[in-house]
Amino acid sequence: MTQSLTIARPDDWHLHLRDGAMLQAVLPETARHFGRAIIMPNLVPPVISGAQAVAYKDRIMAALPEGMSFEPLMTLYLTEESDPEDIAAAHATGLIKAVKLYPAGATTNSASGVANFKNVRAALEKMAEIGLPLCVHGEVTDHDVDIFDREAVFIDRVLDPIRKSTPGLRVIMEHITTQDGVAYVQDNADGLGATITTHHLIINRNHILVGGIKPHYYCLPVAKREEHRLALRAAATSGDARFFLGTDSAPHLDGDKESACGCAGCFTATNTMPLLAHVFEEEGALDHLESFASRNGPGFYGLPVNQDTLTLVKNQQATAFPDKIESPQGPVTVFSPGYDVFWTVAE
Ligand code: DOR
Ligand code: ZN
Repeated sequence: MTQSLTIARPDDWHLHLRDGAMLQAVLPETARHFGRAIIMPNLVPPVISGAQAVAYKDRIMAALPEGMSFEPLMTLYLTEESDPEDIAAAHATGLIKAVKLYPAGATTNSASGVANFKNVRAALEKMAEIGLPLCVHGEVTDHDVDIFDREAVFIDRVLDPIRKSTPGLRVIMEHITTQDGVAYVQDNADGLGATITTHHLIINRNHILVGGIKPHYYCLPVAKREEHRLALRAAATSGDARFFLGTDSAPHLDGDKESACGCAGCFTATNTMPLLAHVFEEEGALDHLESFASRNGPGFYGLPVNQDTLTLVKNQQATAFPDKIESPQGPVTVFSPGYDVFWTVAE
């Protein structure tokens, strides 16, 4: 028997589209299923000014295949030199939906990020004043902090002090990976939300390391212990409006991942919605998939829920997802959960 589920069209509240030929290769994978996405600004060079964001949005729209509709929601990359007035002006035009904070050196293309948080105080205060949300990559970069502890330490040492000293600042903890992240959101009042990726609902750190190193499961923040994965699944499937989908789908060429120093990022744009249907069904929470993927994000950002819908169908036969997406520079491996999934998106 086929089972089907129709939900308001989902959005992706954290996405890497890159630029040039890679943008062209990966954009249809997102636009096929998602109405909108928050576009990460970690290009080289990063998207810092309003003018750069306008130009990047134009390149995204130019790469969109005929007949597809998709709205990129643009962000600015916060640096210690960011001018609060420039940020406010870019927000006032309606173009910029959030500002992204990368601790310097935390992840891919984060070298221009923030090392001294005192130097972004004025920008954060301006954002609180104008109601512009801050998307946070929540990991400290101190060499003496174990990589598996970097999110929990960031919450205590950086995030909580920033929130206490900047009342009214709306914050999205991006791609949370720990019970600590879940609890911090649950224990705090208005103005705090969190995105959760598809892959962090599926893999724990064993998937990366047991039986040989699996570079396509390596991302940042790195997947943690099983107890953390279970906490993320409970949060995502709970219906709690503060948790919503941000895939962090992050394409890298296979050659750059299957390397002695492999890049961080899982590419999940292609099969995220069927994988989520599988996860939510396992948790007995299919009725909360629409909240997580289509309603809670717009709610947090103060945007309307998409008017059109997406239908997921569960078949008798396992769905054959593509293994790779081709780009002119080479293939990008599509995230595989390592088990059969019977859900697919009805075309
Ligand atoms: O795994 C990741 N990949 N985490 C990030 O924070 C950045 C992203 C990328 O840009 O490749
Ligand atoms: Zn990301």
